[in-house]
Amino acid sequence: MRAIKGLAFDLDGVIADSATLHFAAWKRLADELGIPFTAEDNEALKGVDRINSLRHILKLGQRDLPDDEIARLAARKNGFYVDAISTLTADALLPGAAALLDEAATRGLRIGLASASRNAPALLERLGVADAFEFIADPANHLPKPAPDLFLACARAFGLPPQAMIGFEDAPAGIEAIRAAGFRAVGIGETPLPRADIQFATLADIDLAALLG
Ligand code: BG6
Ligand code: MG
Repeated sequence: MRAIKGLAFDLDGVIADSATLHFAAWKRLADELGIPFTAEDNEALKGVDRINSLRHILKLGQRDLPDDEIARLAARKNGFYVDAISTLTADALLPGAAALLDEAATRGLRIGLASASRNAPALLERLGVADAFEFIADPANHLPKPAPDLFLACARAFGLPPQAMIGFEDAPAGIEAIRAAGFRAVGIGETPLPRADIQFATLADIDLAALLG
């Protein structure tokens, strides 16, 4: 097996306790639209980009809206979300995130971000971990998950083959993206991710030496 030299992380639900904030923002929008939307419905949106998430909610409500109205509603949800993250601090880092990033850097691993969120750079700043990431894949320039593009962009930025990379994800769409990229897929969270190669409840449960070995 080829040695692992790079790590690519999802952000929402892996590094940051922000998945609940995306849900709250979508729920507020769905309530305004009179579309029933539950935490269970939201599971299908994890890892999914903004416009496709909105299209999914509109489909739940059997709504068909013109593109300019869809753009307006997506911007409205984003306003709710941007407000919600504007006051976050390092307290919103998920357990083990800071320690794992530190240990990976100490071991000389390359560290990238493969998040679908266009708010990722701002959120990393708020969490105080922006400097830990050598590369942040830009979702504006890549196909959304489950396409492998955001993860492949990290490998390319580091000049590493996929076999030298591990990806970390909390969502089924993200695990599919990692697999399609040819990385090893580590699932994070309590919700079972049967397509992951291995899963941990939090980053704090990972023994990095064992994972790399
Ligand atoms: C993903 C989240 O990380 O980013 C999704 O899991 C979110 O819930 C997506 O919709 C896009 O985020 P943003 O900040 O660009 O709307
Ligand atoms: Mg996620």
